[in-house]
Amino acid sequence: MLVLVTGGTGYIGSHTCIELINEGFEVVILDNLSNSSFEVIHRIKEITGKKPHFIHGDLLDEKELQKVFNVYDIEAVLHFAGLKAVGESVHFPLRYYHNNVTGTLNLSKAMQETGTKKMVFSSSATVYSLHGTPPFNEETPLGAMNPYGRTKQMVEEMMHDLYHADPEWSISLLRYFNPIGAHPSGLIGEDPQGLPNNLIPYITQVCVGKLPYLNIYGNDYDTHDGTGVRDYIHVCDLARGHVLALKDLYNKRGVSTYNLGTGRGYSVMEIVETFERITGNRIPYRFTERRPGDIHVCLADPNKAALELGWQAEKDLTEMCKDTWKWQKNNPDGYSTAKKVVVTS
Ligand code: NAD
Ligand code: UD1
Repeated sequence: MLVLVTGGTGYIGSHTCIELINEGFEVVILDNLSNSSFEVIHRIKEITGKKPHFIHGDLLDEKELQKVFNVYDIEAVLHFAGLKAVGESVHFPLRYYHNNVTGTLNLSKAMQETGTKKMVFSSSATVYSLHGTPPFNEETPLGAMNPYGRTKQMVEEMMHDLYHADPEWSISLLRYFNPIGAHPSGLIGEDPQGLPNNLIPYITQVCVGKLPYLNIYGNDYDTHDGTGVRDYIHVCDLARGHVLALKDLYNKRGVSTYNLGTGRGYSVMEIVETFERITGNRIPYRFTERRPGDIHVCLADPNKAALELGWQAEKDLTEMCKDTWKWQKNNPDGYSTAKKVVVTS
């Protein structure tokens, strides 16, 4: 069973490739390496013993995409490729709509033309309306608040329209909550470019002394300690969810939407304390203003994925932080110290 993984050298895609290979799938990765490194391919081979096929290509290149589907006999696509920085999307909305929406349009067209009609799509909890009351289930009203989130919402709608026009499609829309952690080997993990936007990579860079202290955005929220609460999920649990969602596509047609979260929330202070316990270091922090657009609590109701896919998160916060820390310690500069040679096969 040959599957195409777009964005497969990225953070979540690379962990999913490992899970797919371990489950017996043959993997072709397509990535333009705009936010990832070719070194990931070597690391996947080191972990699984198998080297995935790699195409250095772009979803915006329609001809290249058609070639991929003509050359490889692809059964299904796991579609991770996209731009994901919320703040950047506010400043460069067209770049986000072009890459995330047009890119998915091109991909879906190439799939439709070659009869590949199974897709797992990376959506996000960010599609939910901030006015909903957590925990969010899949019926919670949508209302993304920024261009990045709206690209996800638009693609979700596009997938519904595609199925209505052609009922042979099977599509799974996976709404991730807050993916963190790394592969337990310490060989692959999240490798943000520049100053991290998100909490966990920021904390780990404070831990290794690359950043002086953490800014905690607000300590006056309506939560038990005043700091924001999120549903953090280990990236390997998330990867397992993708394999189950993919297998499920072989049994049904239509569009299914699933939350992938744990249903359990942790505050920023609890995350700081867990990292302090694991690293044995004090993490300097300062309370600052709330970050615009943030909500007090974001939490998944993960019951639908449990009932229909038989999936639930297994790894707890300590494991998430331990694995993140192992990756960061082993790779203080991410993949950038590794030799960069791009080879396509
Ligand atoms: P990532 O940036 O690590 O991976 C995305 C990959 O896509 C990168 O390797 C990048 O080089 C590639 N890419 C981007 N545009 C491309 C294009 N036009 N053609 C080919 N390759 C392209 O991000 P991630 O954290 O692994 O996220 C994967 C997906 O999950 C994204 O769609 C993201 O929006 C979504 N998501 C992520 C999070 C999160 O917190 N990480 C949460 C919810 C949803
Ligand atoms: C972010 C994205 C969201 C995406 C989600 C999943 C933003 C604005 N939102 O949400 O679209 O779906 O990740 O990965 O980027 N915090 C600090 N200091 C920091 C960074 C964060 O206190 O330096 C706090 C935040 O206020 C929040 C929590 O930590 O309470 C988590 O923040 P973050 O990791 O950025 O994730 P989200 O805001 O949930």
